[in-house]
Amino acid sequence: MDVHSPLPLLGGLTPAQFMRTHWHKKPLLVRQAVPGFAPTVSRADLFALAGDEGVESRLVQQKDGQWRLRHGPFARRSLPSLQAPDWTLLVQGADLHDDATHALLQQFRFVPEARLDDLMISYASNGGGVGPHFDSYDVFLLQAHGRRRWRIGRQKDLTLREGIPLKVLEHFEPEEEFVLEPGDMLYLPPRWAHDGVAEGECMTYSIGFRSPRRADIAQSILLRLADEATDDDDTPIYRDPKQEAVALPGAIPAALQEFARDAVRRALADPLSVERALGEWLTEPKSNVWFDPAPASGLLEGVALDRRTRMMYDDKHVYINGESYRAAGRDATLMRRLADERGLTAKDLARASDDALELLSSWCDSGWAHARAPQD
Ligand code: SIN
Ligand code: CO
Repeated sequence: MDVHSPLPLLGGLTPAQFMRTHWHKKPLLVRQAVPGFAPTVSRADLFALAGDEGVESRLVQQKDGQWRLRHGPFARRSLPSLQAPDWTLLVQGADLHDDATHALLQQFRFVPEARLDDLMISYASNGGGVGPHFDSYDVFLLQAHGRRRWRIGRQKDLTLREGIPLKVLEHFEPEEEFVLEPGDMLYLPPRWAHDGVAEGECMTYSIGFRSPRRADIAQSILLRLADEATDDDDTPIYRDPKQEAVALPGAIPAALQEFARDAVRRALADPLSVERALGEWLTEPKSNVWFDPAPASGLLEGVALDRRTRMMYDDKHVYINGESYRAAGRDATLMRRLADERGLTAKDLARASDDALELLSSWCDSGWAHARAPQD
């Protein structure tokens, strides 16, 4: 993507300008970000997705001032009637289940994929919404069907209402208000308070970019490094032939403390280990994702990543669906192109080494990628 070309999606800003002036800093309202936009998933298909066990969905209802939250899957008959007001159905990861929705997400590839979480679709009856709240996400709220009134503000008081199953702000102080029509989009940085209320039947797409918490990253990486450390069968044991008799048996020996510090230092000693664990973690498929193995019939015409595949790279590795591979030279260039463009042409493949072709073919076998049809 040319990050210096103005985009209607960003109201005529270039991706470079948007990232400089708005991303993680201040909201942006774009009228007709996607001109003539129509939902990529029909109401009936969305309800069918919400009935699927492999799809994460929630139903939020407001009745007599009370909030109610239920988790899916939902049989169609367990959803409220379309005429009943004040309910909303939220379906996470719609991009994983539908090609057109996944294709829409590709327009946002001016943000590193490492930051992307998913595309959630909400369906609401008149008055439906999830209440005033804030997220730890950068989010693009794209109106897909009907109208939604958004009120937003830089909330200082983040106190949440107690005793309800949702995170709803106790004292929401909106500063601005917009009504979004199909194709309009509102970008919000993390922690901006917002409340979207459906005006009539309404569908909203939330393209969410998570900001991982330092503690979560540390935990995930340390868990992986711990696994690697225990893989080593030859690891030495603590030895203390010079340990003297003690009168204070409760005290932890200083030598054992040093042995522990050294063990941790060694687990972190490989300068690439943290990067590798991070890449594997970032590309790990969500727990509800599985692939359909499909033995490849040949890769000559090109290859395309499956929409569920997460692929990234750093200086030394390529990562795909939680696995890491050392890559260098021409093969690394090829694999990076696959990660950036999510596909390779027959011309690209003509320059690939046998090892790279074999790897691609195994990814096709696992259903992580697909051989492209000749006309693609
Ligand atoms: C919704 O689509 O109803 C909720 C989206 C959000 O507020 O994050
Ligand atoms: Co939100």
